Amino acid sequence: MSKKICLTGIKPTGIPHLGNYLGAMRPAINLANSGEYDGYFFIADYHSLTSVYDAKKLNEDIYNVAASWLACGLDPKKVTLYKQSDIPEILELNWILSCFCNKGLMNRAHAYKAKVQANVENKKDEDQGVNIGLFSYPVLMASDILFLNSDIVPVGPDQLQHLEIARDLVNAFNHHYGEILKEPKAIENETILIPGLDGRKMSKSYDNTIPLFSTEKKFKKLINKITTDSLPPEASKDPSDSTIFDLFCLFSTEQEQKDLSEWYKRGIGWGEAKAELFKVANREIAPMREKYDHLMANKSEIDQLLVEGAKKVRPMAQKNLQKIKKVIGVSNV
Ligand code: TRP
Repeated sequence: MSKKICLTGIKPTGIPHLGNYLGAMRPAINLANSGEYDGYFFIADYHSLTSVYDAKKLNEDIYNVAASWLACGLDPKKVTLYKQSDIPEILELNWILSCFCNKGLMNRAHAYKAKVQANVENKKDEDQGVNIGLFSYPVLMASDILFLNSDIVPVGPDQLQHLEIARDLVNAFNHHYGEILKEPKAIENETILIPGLDGRKMSKSYDNTIPLFSTEKKFKKLINKITTDSLPPEASKDPSDSTIFDLFCLFSTEQEQKDLSEWYKRGIGWGEAKAELFKVANREIAPMREKYDHLMANKSEIDQLLVEGAKKVRPMAQKNLQKIKKVIGVSNV
């Protein structure tokens, strides 16, 4: 029996930060590389076009995310990596599905709803800044998933509603034509709270992130910027109330965590704690940084991988689309 298909999309939005890596990328890569599934990861470049109109930035960000995922260990021999815009069949399906999508379903999609609400709060026209691409974003996302008959889709909690919509569209379509599309199952990434420089959740909107890839020097400098209290070095400290310790745990062995925890209780200087964090984090990130820098300096290697990915996925897309076009009555071949 063939393996189940595990698919996920990544919106190109610049260099990921440590929170993205620890919370989403590392677990998704482990799942995809496990060999348990047939893995498909793609760069959702057309999704970015709903808001990014700077061609140079979009292009650079496509390389950024591809290089980041590859550097973090996504193995292109085990997982097929491709770019959404290289598979035009996704857009054919997008149109077909949009004809089965009630407008009301899109009115309830949270990204659109949030935008409308912000407009209303700011006393603007409620549709200001809303393009149809943004409005129907979930239909394109459903097409990304359904064109390949995906079984499972690892996503963050903010994407669960979109998966629900994809399932609604499967039912709306299958209601007319029989069991043609497959209902995908969401796998929710475990939500671990990754603290940022100020101890709050690491997030671009709080401006407290540590980019996954910068120079080693800059990485160290940012770790040194993590906020601490003003306890003197010799004072006993509580590891369960320390951003540095929380981050340390995400990169270290149990033994290392035990050792550091004891040092905290004996009295550790914050400078020393930060040095310990840097040591374990950099141990994991340094080889990835090297790979990232290499790929960004040799973008043709990324191009090559994406071409190969599309070569593998397109025939599958064409076959599945052909079947769909037949059942809706637009094709006889
Ligand atoms: N919307 C997703 C995000 O912003 C990215 C995405 C696009 C996606 N298409 C997808 C994720 C299909 C999973 C499956 O993160």
